[in-house]
Amino acid sequence: TVATNDQVELDSLPLELQLELKRLKDDFTVDSKRLKHIVSQFQEELQAGLDKYGSNISMNATWVLGFPSGTERGKFLVVDLGGTNIRVCWIELRGREEELLITQDEFRLPDELKTGEAQPLWDFIADSLETFIAKHDLGGSEEEPLQLGFTFSYPCHQEYIDHGKLVTWTKGFEIKGVEGEDAVGQLREAMAKRNLPIRLVALINDTTGAMIASSYTDPQTIIGAIFGTGCNGAYMENVGSIGKLDTQLPQDTPMAINCEYGAFDNAHTALPRTSYDVTVDEESPKPGEQAFEKMSAGLYLGEIFRLILLELHGKGIMFKGQDVSKLREPYLLDTGFLSGVEHNANPGMLFDSPTRDAFKQKLNLDISDKEIVFVRRTAQLISIRGARLCSCGIAAICKKKGITSGHVAADGSVANKHPEFKRRWAKAMAEVLDWPGDRKEDPITITSAEDGSGIGAAVIVAMTLKRAKEGNL
Ligand code: GLC
Repeated sequence: TVATNDQVELDSLPLELQLELKRLKDDFTVDSKRLKHIVSQFQEELQAGLDKYGSNISMNATWVLGFPSGTERGKFLVVDLGGTNIRVCWIELRGREEELLITQDEFRLPDELKTGEAQPLWDFIADSLETFIAKHDLGGSEEEPLQLGFTFSYPCHQEYIDHGKLVTWTKGFEIKGVEGEDAVGQLREAMAKRNLPIRLVALINDTTGAMIASSYTDPQTIIGAIFGTGCNGAYMENVGSIGKLDTQLPQDTPMAINCEYGAFDNAHTALPRTSYDVTVDEESPKPGEQAFEKMSAGLYLGEIFRLILLELHGKGIMFKGQDVSKLREPYLLDTGFLSGVEHNANPGMLFDSPTRDAFKQKLNLDISDKEIVFVRRTAQLISIRGARLCSCGIAAICKKKGITSGHVAADGSVANKHPEFKRRWAKAMAEVLDWPGDRKEDPITITSAEDGSGIGAAVIVAMTLKRAKEGNL
């Protein structure tokens, strides 16, 4: 069987690699007991965020008041500032029964923008919008502007739906002059300079978008989650349960909360951090922030892997006598590389050319058969830990709200492209929530989110305009 072959493989490793592997396994394993402990602290931090401004997990009110009815219709423009691209979409919603229509273009965000000044960023977004509406001949005028949803997936404090003061950049962005400012106002200014016939209606987080897009067609949706470059979730709360919120809205009004739980445990008391996690944090533009995200999100998994390999080279254990200059490049290895390393090999077979090719191409390193066995195991340990930690945020929301069944609408590269993620996540959920071993099916499951950053944003714009029309803002 595979397991025996695996064992044979491991036993065949030189002793020094075996010892390293054992050490890594001890460091990266998060058992059920630890998971439960994490979840209970997680619940406390979620609650603190609802009670008080300035809490570690910010639990941002999004002013998305309830789930869509599924009858939302109309044509909307969306601009989505993702990690690497700007995406502009033109979406026609035709009600949940009919397929929607979508036209979209991507504009590659120049790398230097991510750490530059604010103005070039907003100019770039406004230019992309201008190009898009001209290319697709969308029209729009001062009297009848195109209605825009702005997907901006960073922690924002929103006083209303078309407002969002950026609290802090995350995911490696570090653009000067936006933190503490209203991102909506800054984008509006750049659009005004160009006289764009566009009205910015709502600022949307990708998690809220995922939840709303999915619930447009799937009423069993309970949570929207991103397991991608970043890691975060959104769910529906009652206004009356958001202690910090000062509003005239009736207590039983539903309000989507963007948790921003990537910041969980910034005080470093619950998560089992390894020396690699400490290094990732210290070398990031924002040390001390996003502790949970740095251990579970796609941006960081490959980086943790890289640090391990570099350390083992330094100890004279791996890639002996080779030039590791490429391996020294921060963030060179992404989650795709990591999942490739884990899956390219046939279990039990030492000969594994895709991984050998990948190391050659990406890192200019010759990797031996034994080293391939080692890196595969290591990649697995990192990804398993990530998936198990990812279950904690969702489990904490479910426990806190007393939710026992439903669909977690998930988007992001880790959820969609890592073949084992969902299975590992589900296993951890079962451990944390004590699901019976003889269950026929899992009560809470991951469903692939409808494009939340695009379609979700469009649905939210439609809901917002409808409320405005009813004088219900
Ligand atoms: C980061 C952002 C958050 C976003 C998540 C997923 O955690 O702060 O707003 O939802 O990444 O993209």
